[in-house]
Amino acid sequence: MASLTVRRLDDEIKVALKLRAAKNGRSVEDEVRVILRDAAGSAEPATIDPGAERPQPRVEGGRRVTLIIGGGIAAYKALDLIRRIKERGFYVRVVLTQAATHFVTALTVSALADERCYTDLFDSQSEFDAGHIRLARDCDLIVVAPATADLMAKMAHGLADDLASAVLLATDKPILLAPAMNPLMWRNAATRRNVAQLLHDGVLTVGPNAGEMAEANEAGLGRMSEPLEIAAKVEAMLRPKQLQNLQPQSLNGLRVLITAGPTHEPIDPVRYIANRSSGKQGYAIAAAAAAAGAETVLVSGPVNLPDPKGVRVMRVESARDMLSRVEQSLPADIAIFAAAVADWRVSNAGEQKIKKSASGLPQLDLVENPDILATIAKRTHDRPKLVIGFAAETEHVAQNATAKLARKGSDWIVANDVSPATGIMGGDSNTVQIFMKDHTAPETWPAMSKDDVAGRLIARIAQAVHGVPPKSMS
Ligand SMILES: Cc1cc2nc3c(=O)[nH]c(=O)nc-3n(C[C@H](O)[C@H](O)[C@H](O)COP(=O)(O)O)c2cc1C
Repeated sequence: MASLTVRRLDDEIKVALKLRAAKNGRSVEDEVRVILRDAAGSAEPATIDPGAERPQPRVEGGRRVTLIIGGGIAAYKALDLIRRIKERGFYVRVVLTQAATHFVTALTVSALADERCYTDLFDSQSEFDAGHIRLARDCDLIVVAPATADLMAKMAHGLADDLASAVLLATDKPILLAPAMNPLMWRNAATRRNVAQLLHDGVLTVGPNAGEMAEANEAGLGRMSEPLEIAAKVEAMLRPKQLQNLQPQSLNGLRVLITAGPTHEPIDPVRYIANRSSGKQGYAIAAAAAAAGAETVLVSGPVNLPDPKGVRVMRVESARDMLSRVEQSLPADIAIFAAAVADWRVSNAGEQKIKKSASGLPQLDLVENPDILATIAKRTHDRPKLVIGFAAETEHVAQNATAKLARKGSDWIVANDVSPATGIMGGDSNTVQIFMKDHTAPETWPAMSKDDVAGRLIARIAQAVHGVPPKSMS
C-alpha cells in the first residue's frame, strides 16, 4: 500500500487531528487513514476499533517506557515528561491512577502520548489479552512520576488493587520512581520505611528535590524532580553511556567466541538433565560483539532463539559437544563463556528408553562433565587473550565468584544472582558484577536489560583490549 507523508500541516489542524485521534483511541496515522477512507467514500468499511490496541511501532531499538502518573499535584509536570521522554526517541505508554485523573485528563495525556492511555484494571478492551501484564512486561522501563506516598506504600506492601499497582507488581522491568509530596509526608516514618523497603527491593529513585511546595508557605524536601532531570535518568538507564560509546568498529579484526544456553545431558534417548538457562544473555553478547565488528562465533546449547545477525552459530546438545565445538573454533582473541553447562552427566545413560520396572527405581550414576571455562583458560597454546566466565549463583555471589576466578584461571568473571526471586534465569533483565583478576573490588552494574549488559560488556572488553584503564568506565 502506498504511504503518504503530509508536510507543512497547519499547527491548528495538527492539534485538532491529535485530539480527534486521542478521542477515538487511534494513532494519528490511523485517524488520517479513516478520514481519507471516509472522504474517498471507500466501500471498505473502516475496520479500526476505537478501543482496540494496536501494535505500536518500536522506536530507538525498541525502547519503551511505561509511565505511571500518580495522583499528586506534580502530575501536571508529567505531561512535559511525556514530551521529554519522546523527544529522546523512546516510546511512551501512560497509565493514570484514578487519583491522577483529578489532576490531568486522559484526553490530554493521550494526545501527548499519541495513543490511548490506561486507567482501569477491569477494562475489558485491554484485558482480553491480559492488558496489565502487557503494560508491565512490554516495556524496558517503568517510570512512576509523580510517585505519591500512597502508591509507594502500595508497592512496598505488594498491593495490586488498581491498574498502576497491578502493573508495578507484575513487572520484571527496572522501576524508576520520582517521588513528590509534602515534606511532612516525605519525612513521615511510614514513608521512610516504605522508601527503604523499595530501595532494598532494587527500585531506583530520582529526587525528590528541596524547594517550594504548591501549598502556600510550604517548603522543604518533597518536590518532584524536573521533567528534564527525570528524562536524563531515563536516558541513562535505557542507553548506558558505555552503549552510546560503543563504536561499531571497536572489535574490528578480532575473533570472539561465545557460548550460550543450557546443555542437555541424556538419561536415555528421550530424557535428559537440563537447566533453566534461556540463552538470552549469551545471544545478546554475540549480537553486540558482531555489531562491534568482531568475527563472532556462538556455540549454543538447545534454546528457542533465532541466530543473531552476523554471527556464526553452532548448535550443540551436551557439555562434551560444546567443549569439542569450542576447541574446534580456536584460535580466538576473546572467549566469553555464558553457557550454563551442566556440571554432571549420566555415565550409564540408556541406549533405549528406560522402562518402569517392578524390581525398583533405575540407578542413575553421575560423572563430572568437562569444565569448559577452566579447560580453555588453562590452555598453554591458543589461549584467547581475554577469557571471561559467567557465574550463576543463588547465594554468596561475591565469595563464589572470587573463588571461581582463581580456580578456573579466567581473566574476568561476570557474576549474577540467579536465585528464583531475581527472575534473571529466563528473564529479560540482569544485574551483574564483574570480578577481574588483579582487581580487589568488583565493578557493580545497576539492573538493566540483558541487551544493555551485553552492550556494556562488549564496550568494556573493547576498552580493555585497547588498553583503556577501567576507571574511565565508571
Ligand atoms: C490537591 C491534592 C494534592 C495532592 N498532592 C499529593 C502529592 O503531591 N503527593 C502525594 O503523595 N499525595 C498527594 N495527594 C494525595 C493523593 O492524591 C492521595 O493519597 C491519592 O490516594 C493518591 O492516589 P494514587 O497514589 O493512586 O495516585 C494530594 C491530594 C490532593 C487532594
